[in-house]
Amino acid sequence: METDETAARKSAARQRADEVKPFRCKNLIAVLEDPTDIRNIGTVIRNVNALGVEKTYIVDPRRALPDDWQGMRERRSLTKTSVSAIKWSFVKRFDSSEECLAHLNRNRFVSIVTSPHIKGRRNVVLHEADYSVYTRLAVWFGNESRGVSNLAVEHSEMCVSIPMFGMIESLNLGTTSGIVLYEITKQRREYQSKYKRAGKRRKGPSGDHPRTSA
Ligand SMILES: C[S@@+](CC[C@H](N)C(=O)[O-])C[C@H]1O[C@@H](n2cnc3c(N)ncnc32)[C@H](O)[C@@H]1O
Repeated sequence: METDETAARKSAARQRADEVKPFRCKNLIAVLEDPTDIRNIGTVIRNVNALGVEKTYIVDPRRALPDDWQGMRERRSLTKTSVSAIKWSFVKRFDSSEECLAHLNRNRFVSIVTSPHIKGRRNVVLHEADYSVYTRLAVWFGNESRGVSNLAVEHSEMCVSIPMFGMIESLNLGTTSGIVLYEITKQRREYQSKYKRAGKRRKGPSGDHPRTSA
């Protein structure tokens, strides 16, 4: 039987979920292409949840993950590495990048890839691009050693990089997702808030965000 304490915790979590809902970035998906380290997968899901990204897609050709979200929510390694964010953020897996791209195309998503290297036709520095121009946007992050695939690059609008000033070739996948998604969600939330202010009833003041209590 559920204790009063458990019921109170659940109701506080539900209340928080309702509070943050209007601040989530709709039509924004983080795509992980063949990630191998479960700690990176958990970190990305945690960042996705914390920054208000709508969903995570995972290209998982090795079939390391359960088939559906419910199975993932029950997988202890994912609950642990994402500090339970997996319970609140939708995750879908695909067998291949082709399958994922076909699904995104069918749903009219524009893809962009991330890489520390120059890839494809258009290359931009993270903070110099405008991410509010794409109604539906999928942001691809590559494998820990190989990076993003040529297929993903070929099907992407541009390649985004975080400038590097050290001796190391690249950032860690989980770290990159936090930096890239912070910039993209910041821009898209500002846009959503301006749009609401101009045309519709707004849910909160400009630049406002729901705070957590101490
Ligand atoms: C460890 S890196 C992969 C390094 C790999 N050797 C390569 O050539 O891309 C894993 C992923 O993190 C992202 N990443 C790492 N550093 C980045 C940077 N400076 N700018 C943009 N994305 C980066 C990319 O999505 C990359 O595929």
